[in-house]
Amino acid sequence: MSRANDREIVSLQYNSDKNLHARQALHRGFSTNKYGWENWVFDQYIFNPNDKVIEFGCGNGSIWAHNKNKLPKNIEIILTDLSEGMLKTSKNNLSGVNQIVNYCTMDIQNIEYENNSFDCVIANHMLYHVPNRDLAISEIARILKPEGTFYATTNSTYSLAGLKDLVRNFDSRLDYASFSVAKEFGLENGIEQLSKHFDSVEKAVYEDSLHITEAKPLADYVLSLEGHVNIHDIMTENKIKDFHEYLEEMILRDGSIDIPKCSGIFICKRPKK
Ligand SMILES: C[S@@+](CC[C@H](N)C(=O)[O-])C[C@H]1O[C@@H](n2cnc3c(N)ncnc32)[C@H](O)[C@@H]1O
Repeated sequence: MSRANDREIVSLQYNSDKNLHARQALHRGFSTNKYGWENWVFDQYIFNPNDKVIEFGCGNGSIWAHNKNKLPKNIEIILTDLSEGMLKTSKNNLSGVNQIVNYCTMDIQNIEYENNSFDCVIANHMLYHVPNRDLAISEIARILKPEGTFYATTNSTYSLAGLKDLVRNFDSRLDYASFSVAKEFGLENGIEQLSKHFDSVEKAVYEDSLHITEAKPLADYVLSLEGHVNIHDIMTENKIKDFHEYLEEMILRDGSIDIPKCSGIFICKRPKK
């Protein structure tokens, strides 16, 4: 168990989409790769006519919302998440997308579907939050048809390392530097974990970085890590003001805050039955 997959922390963190939304806003507003993460991830999906698709940990449904006009008409999608708050938001964000036939709360470690039920399974930026990840991946291999595909996005261990340094330099008591979701399941160790349950695992990497010219979205990003990082213990109202000033001074001095980042996707085929 770690701060990335402690059930209590994860449930509080994703009670609603507030925290996820703050992080998405920073990426959307200040990423240098203008193609866009949501477009790139959607490009990796291959859907055939009549495919049955299920996503675990769908969050606020941002990739579907962004690509709703590109969805083939004749596929059926089920969106699931541990958090009722997230499902409510994704339902609002995706109203009118007729391919989505159901929204339900579900833990990826305990999937309520029969063997060989789906052509595509998706679990984006969520496997690192799962305490028994091996069970979850075996469950995905179980519900996937033998010819089906599993897609899972995640981060590199090196992604946003510059942001951790910046936070540590502001206040070394903030324990962001030692928090890592990618150490649980990241671009560097994912193949090993997935290969236990899939004969074919390929990785594709999306190159990008942040060029940040406003303090508030960056401060909101850091504050959104509440629970995973000891934000509540350190970041009093005054401290948050100081943090804004610290970031503003940097931006004024250097013109921007530039931080490399790296994320990608695993594409898994031939589930081991
Ligand atoms: C970082 S968000 C990713 C959301 C979305 N997939 C995306 O890429 O934007 C992680 C999501 O996984 C969900 N989650 C965490 N643990 C889960 C579990 N064991 N089973 C299903 N969903 C889970 C959270 O509620 C949250 O919505």
